[in-house]
Amino acid sequence: MFITFEGADGCGKTTQIKLIDEYLRSKGYKTLLTREPGSKGLGEKIREILLNYDGEVSSRCESFLFLADRAQHVDCIIKPALQEGTIVLCDRHTDSTVAYQGYGRGLDIEEIKKLNALATGGLKPDLTIVFDVDIETSQARVGKNKDRMESAGIEFFKKVREGFLEIAKEEPQRVKVINSSDTIENIHKKVVELIGK
Ligand code: TMP
Repeated sequence: MFITFEGADGCGKTTQIKLIDEYLRSKGYKTLLTREPGSKGLGEKIREILLNYDGEVSSRCESFLFLADRAQHVDCIIKPALQEGTIVLCDRHTDSTVAYQGYGRGLDIEEIKKLNALATGGLKPDLTIVFDVDIETSQARVGKNKDRMESAGIEFFKKVREGFLEIAKEEPQRVKVINSSDTIENIHKKVVELIGK
């Protein structure tokens, strides 16, 4: 199983992915908890540029950096783990590029989808969980120490949030939305329920 966790910054997905990883391990499953951008090695270096470079970055260049990281991640980490029968839990993947660079930055969404398919070699998540929360709550969770992406502003994050909800509408079989303004325990229960199914 390949399961991705998505949502705008401050949606709480990273807390939830760690909890479900512990839960699945406690049930005897072999899991790999990983993330995009930058799981390890070259990906870490791409992440550093994407989140901390303080000069001009064009939206197209930003997209290609996320996609380059994804290609490396799929080929060197995700696919080998899936082939071994490991459950791969991935913190962000293709839907983030559609939501952030497509809906957020305004690049052509169909083009982004094609580039995503190229970067993944056609691999698709079996299940994607989108953690949805209002912008005020997510921005408060992010706090004041913002990285390059987190500094993009409220209007940008409104579009990103709408983007994720649109993706869920388009692919209801794969993409499930959880209201992430509930308590950590209640959200965890919903994640367990979804993955159990
Ligand atoms: P993180 O904070 O969840 O680790 O994600 C890093 C940032 O990168 C976050 O602001 C979302 C952004 N991002 C994109 O803009 N496009 C992408 O394709 C991915 C994977 C992340």
